[in-house]
Amino acid sequence: MLKVNDINVYYGNIHALKGVSLEVKEGEIVTLIGANGAGKSTLLKTLSGLLKPKSGSIEYLQAAVSGKAPQSIVKAGISHVPEGRRVFANMTVEENLELGAYLRKDKKEIRKDLDKVYELFPRLLERRKQLSGTLSGGEQQMLAMGRAIMAKPKLLLLDEPSMGLAPLMVKTIFKIVEQINQAGTTVLLVEQNANMALSIADRAYIIETGRVEISGSAAELQASEQIKKAYLGGI
Ligand SMILES: Nc1ncnc2c1ncn2[C@@H]1O[C@H](COP(=O)(O)OP(=O)(O)OP(=O)(O)O)[C@@H](O)[C@H]1O
Ligand SMILES: [Mg+2]
Repeated sequence: MLKVNDINVYYGNIHALKGVSLEVKEGEIVTLIGANGAGKSTLLKTLSGLLKPKSGSIEYLQAAVSGKAPQSIVKAGISHVPEGRRVFANMTVEENLELGAYLRKDKKEIRKDLDKVYELFPRLLERRKQLSGTLSGGEQQMLAMGRAIMAKPKLLLLDEPSMGLAPLMVKTIFKIVEQINQAGTTVLLVEQNANMALSIADRAYIIETGRVEISGSAAELQASEQIKKAYLGGI
């Protein structure tokens, strides 16, 4: 579904992604794990057209997407849930969700998808008229994910959905990621919470200072003592 081939991305002189290659197959949950500053968000921003690679290629459903504008990438079926959620605080929950569908014209289908989002996140239904800025961190994460789903993505990019959340909420969020995947959406999940991410992923890539250092099935990585010591906090 997605093939990233040897991309290099810079911020001015800072070489943030150094020849990164990875792939995501339809139906998978793939996780990208790495420490602060490794380049995880840079990769997602590049996939969604917010940054342009200096070299290398990105193929999505057999077509080149590198260089395309963010809107056309959303239209093609890639939705990005950014780090830090970025919900519109002064708008209600429902207004935020409706914004997620802003490129769509199929009113009936949009209504159906809104109902689906409320099914997936009953908490958002309870709070649909509430201003988003008054939601808890976990609820804002749900809203950000719900908003992305309103674009009807085939591939969902999630940037550290568990960041700053209490353990119980982290569990809830990961469970919902699994449900979204089981309902047919492919997921690329960026996380620092490596153990949780590996527990729901099919495959994983470990990125360090702009380079993919290790990749394999989630089960392989979870089983490796060396990887546990180096990357998974020795757990
Ligand atoms: N707007 C920017 N301008 C300059 N450098 C940047 C910018 N954004 C990120 N960087 C640098 O690029 C590198 C990769 O950053 P990135 O945000 O992709 O890391 P990350 O893996 O998402 O980290 P975190 O886990 O902290 O979110 C870092 O060295 C960072 O300092
Ligand atoms: Mg980041």
